[in-house]
Amino acid sequence: MAYIGWSVQDEAGAQAVAERVAAYGLSVSRAQPEECAERRVEGFYWFKDPSGFRHELSWGQFHTVAAFHPGRAISGFRTAEQGLGHVVLAVQDLDEGDRFYRDVLGFHASDIVRDGPLVAHFYHINGRHHSLAISALPTREVAFLHLMIEVNALDDVGTAHDICLQREIPITTTLGKHSNDHMVSFYMYTPSGFRLEYGWGGLDVDHDLWIPRTYDKPSSWGHRRQHAELTALKLDEPAQG
Ligand SMILES: [Fe+2]
Repeated sequence: MAYIGWSVQDEAGAQAVAERVAAYGLSVSRAQPEECAERRVEGFYWFKDPSGFRHELSWGQFHTVAAFHPGRAISGFRTAEQGLGHVVLAVQDLDEGDRFYRDVLGFHASDIVRDGPLVAHFYHINGRHHSLAISALPTREVAFLHLMIEVNALDDVGTAHDICLQREIPITTTLGKHSNDHMVSFYMYTPSGFRLEYGWGGLDVDHDLWIPRTYDKPSSWGHRRQHAELTALKLDEPAQG
């Protein structure tokens, strides 16, 4: 994984976050015009977080006035004001990560899952229940655990599931429903070597009314892990293709 892009409202907002990151002691750079053109944004700052993940804080995303044409007949993706989806990272130190994402980047706690050795913190920055979740592996190894994209209809999840079975794309987590964000999803192992969660029905959060909870398990049903041989993408292993 090359970077995680966060769209900030405007340049002043991105600069304010960049200043907090610098005050935390991390090196922050402002992107060159060629890099901004490549990302199709007006500008961005970038830095590597305490675990070594590269984040980009951009503003002024370019928009093309054209209808979206999906590659197959689906209802569409739930993106827009909720962003692309969510990412889940295995960080080096969970407490340090929690402080960094909340106090420095300004993410809001959604909830925590504590299930035996599994501890995961979930954060929201818009109406999506979580745009980021972090966990720590027993080995303290840093890894990109998965990317989630959400579709507008349960049928789209079902037809994607059929396609994975037909094409023998490994399903690393079976169909299930998450306890905290209510997402009905399954996880596939993409040809680029990372796990992709494909889901529907994610919970919206109203930040002003939200009270973080702690859950005793990540899923209310399903989500059985399989294909343990297909490991998470490590930081020094760029995705192919
Ligand atoms: Fe997820």
